[in-house]
Amino acid sequence: MNNPYDPYPVTIKEIKTETADRSLKTFTFAFIHQADEAAFSYRSGQFAMLSVPRVGEIPIGIASAPSEKGIVKFTVFKTGKVTTFLHNMKQGDVMGIRGPMGNGFPLEQMTKKNLLIIGGGFAFTTLRSTIITLMQPDVRDQYGTIDVVYGARNPGMLLYQDELDQWCRQPGINMHITVDETDDPDWPHHTGFVPAVAGECAPESTGNSVAIVCGPPVMIKFTRPVLADLGYGDENILMSLENRMKCGIGMCGRCNIGQELVCRDGPVFTLAYLNKTPGEF
Ligand SMILES: Cc1cc2nc3c(=O)[nH]c(=O)nc-3n(C[C@H](O)[C@H](O)[C@H](O)COP(=O)(O)OP(=O)(O)OC[C@H]3O[C@@H](n4cnc5c(N)ncnc54)[C@H](O)[C@@H]3O)c2cc1C
Ligand code: FES
Repeated sequence: MNNPYDPYPVTIKEIKTETADRSLKTFTFAFIHQADEAAFSYRSGQFAMLSVPRVGEIPIGIASAPSEKGIVKFTVFKTGKVTTFLHNMKQGDVMGIRGPMGNGFPLEQMTKKNLLIIGGGFAFTTLRSTIITLMQPDVRDQYGTIDVVYGARNPGMLLYQDELDQWCRQPGINMHITVDETDDPDWPHHTGFVPAVAGECAPESTGNSVAIVCGPPVMIKFTRPVLADLGYGDENILMSLENRMKCGIGMCGRCNIGQELVCRDGPVFTLAYLNKTPGEF
């Protein structure tokens, strides 16, 4: 791709409705030109611009993992103009993706460390990419313990339910799933907000531990003191930010926090960095 504003053409290979209220769907795209797939080389935590011709272009986190060859997945919450149009598209329709964009999670800097992954709501999308990457047999051994705390409003709002069940049974990963509320007396997981469940279940930092946190602002606000109590220093807490974006490549200046552009320098920042941008975060 010579012009960074030109999207790669993709076809919609599969559409999966994720949640009981049908507000979240996962779109699996296949590149029309094989060379484009190679050029779209990404890491977990990055995002892309999904462009629907004559409707608009929006930033969405990449939900697939680089190891999932031949496809790229995005899980999209139906909220406004572009996302509603996308939700009405069908298998076989053609659209565009531009990217990958942003920095992603620096997983190669975390080898030998214990990882705590905390996600809430649909911010869990890029964490799916991270978990699939870390659970690759040739990758898993490079890390210490892996704990995941993931919460949704109710059981019907949990994403990737088949995979969650599989990860719960899989050795090498400790899953702590929670919902805010449920009337199911046989609900097998936790009930309660993510920060409280993290306080109960997440391992204390050994000094060699990193936490990755993605979720709505209120979840992040109440998770910060819990992580501090568990001994995670701000330099060992990574967060992925969402800001309004236009170009996605550091050109329009629309997405700045402090001196940095979220699309180019983020969306992943350490909490230690964000603490230096008072009033912005
Ligand atoms: C880095 C990043 C990752 C994201 N990942 C996901 C994801 O995995 N799944 C998901 O469902 N949503 C994600 N979002 C939010 C998603 O971009 C917005 O929900 C989407 O832009 C709304 O588009 P719309 O046209 O349907 O809504 P409208 O409200 O009609 O928006 C109109 C226009 O405003 C702009 N806009 C609105 N909200 C945002 C926003 N938060 N960020 C940037 N531009 C915006 C877009 O240009 C959009 O076309 C992410 C946002 C960012 C910045
Ligand atoms: S979206 Fe244009 S600079 Fe970030």
